[in-house]
Amino acid sequence: MSDCFRSRFFASVLAVMLTAPVLAQEGAAIFKDADLKLGQGLIKEHRCAECHARKFGGDGSGVYRPLERVNTAGALRGMVEQCNTELNFGLFPEEVTAVAAVLNQQHYKFK
Ligand code: HEC
Repeated sequence: MSDCFRSRFFASVLAVMLTAPVLAQEGAAIFKDADLKLGQGLIKEHRCAECHARKFGGDGSGVYRPLERVNTAGALRGMVEQCNTELNFGLFPEEVTAVAAVLNQQHYKFK
């Protein structure tokens, strides 16, 4: 192996070491580029609140309980992904992110 290979390898290890803590600190960075308008439209379109209201009463927002099962921005996005799959909404990944970003802004407020 040439030194060229080795130095590139160490450069990429260094890059991971430098960026990983930054990403960990900004949990909600995953929502940084989210399209909130798109998310709001999808939440209406798929009647998320109607179904949650049937189970939880009121406007349905009682379903959103930060710090219980969903306690990080990543877990929130994962939960929306799970509902998407189970309920067959057929959302694209960026749509899942957009929906989760709206829920984060309005209810969970993860940093
Ligand atoms: C057919 C009914 C139904 C629909 C439609 C629905 N949900 Fe849910 N959702 C549920 C149920 C039931 C739960 C679990 C409640 C519990 O924990 O007992 C849930 C839980 C959740 C949770 C987890 C809440 C928490 O903090 O634990 C999220 C997030 C969520 N739904 C998002 C959505 C989004 C976004 C949509 C629309 C795109 C949606 N749901 C549509 C029934 C529904």
